[in-house]
Amino acid sequence: MLVLGIESSCDETGAAVVRDGRYLLSNVVASQIDIHNRYGGVVPEVASRQQLATIIPVVETAMEQASCSWEHIDAVAATYGPGLAGSLLVGLTVGKTLALARNLPFLGINHLEAHIYANWLRQGEAPHLTETDRDWSYQEGDPIFPLICLVISGAHSELVLVRGHGQYELLGRTRDDAAGEAFDKVARILGLAYPGGPSIQKAAQQAEAELLDQKKPLTLARNAYRLPRAWLRGTYDFSFSGLKTAMLHLAEGATEHQQASRASEGKQVSQYTRMGAQAAQKGTPNVSVLASSFQEAIVDVLAVKTRLATQEYHVKQVMLAGGVAANVSLRTRLEQELLPLRIRLSYPPIEFCTDNAAMIAGVAFFHLRLGTHHSFDLDVQPGLSLPFKK
Ligand code: KG4
Ligand code: ZN
Repeated sequence: MLVLGIESSCDETGAAVVRDGRYLLSNVVASQIDIHNRYGGVVPEVASRQQLATIIPVVETAMEQASCSWEHIDAVAATYGPGLAGSLLVGLTVGKTLALARNLPFLGINHLEAHIYANWLRQGEAPHLTETDRDWSYQEGDPIFPLICLVISGAHSELVLVRGHGQYELLGRTRDDAAGEAFDKVARILGLAYPGGPSIQKAAQQAEAELLDQKKPLTLARNAYRLPRAWLRGTYDFSFSGLKTAMLHLAEGATEHQQASRASEGKQVSQYTRMGAQAAQKGTPNVSVLASSFQEAIVDVLAVKTRLATQEYHVKQVMLAGGVAANVSLRTRLEQELLPLRIRLSYPPIEFCTDNAAMIAGVAFFHLRLGTHHSFDLDVQPGLSLPFKK
């Protein structure tokens, strides 16, 4: 089954053709990063206008690259939430119109569920299987249920128990900022480029590479600043706003002489402002060390809480999903946490972690097989969450 998927929930415009929820025929993404970088974040009005300008060429390119004609397409799918209303409206309207014009089934897709299903995508040719030996629900290499999925994107951080296709139970979620949001806000504080995740990762890698060269332990950067971790014991919830505030105070202390002198006079300043000021006086504060300590604090909480959940729910597989799943430190650390427990960790290739349309076409296949249908009056739902059973 061939599905044309369309993604336009935020600042990426994507179209892709995917076979059987797994095999890519094409995957085209037009990013607006360079435009939003000027503002240090996504400007919704600019994003939706840009979606409008790029969506048709992106769909045309995806069809061309897949070398297929409309006669080969079995269904059209587009994201209907969560995301920015104006941006969502562009992809959803184009998707519905194409389905209507070509008399094809249409499916609205939950963007978060699509991130989860990016774990089913694989690079390379589809195997030649006959209709009879093709099981839609499981093929060799697929994730194995029940599993735990850590969904971490720009606006969401959720720990989810997935019992089967489309069966989600919420174990925990962020009480304030999402992990990606924390990366983006702290990057701004540190004067690093948008999106913050890749910039912070790169800065941290610089500090860590220097230590490796000098044969010194990485903890010298990762634990250079003892940053707060909200463990919220007894729950699988997260909270990253305290960490963000601590970073703000550290950066203030490290950059402003005034703060340094206030700190030395013992005036009321946060312990993090004081730490930043002291480090500044010693001439050591350095954006890459700050980035490394911040990344370590986030990775620590995400990895430990995910490992605890896998132990409680006795699953054999853990998956990462969403833009923050691209983070190399998180992948490595979680692998280390899970290795002694013999629990398999999977994550999509980096290009399928951040927003793309292949994951939209991918999850659509499973929903079509499960019998999900949508009519053309489906509207955008900017605040949509995963369809939790519990
Ligand atoms: O899933 P996504 O592309 O868009 C949303 O659905 O929100 O996620 C974007 C988020 C941004 O906050 C970005 O900073 C973060 O993912 N991100 C990363 C990395 N790459 C992207 N965070 C940490 N490390 C990365 N390498
Ligand atoms: Zn996303």
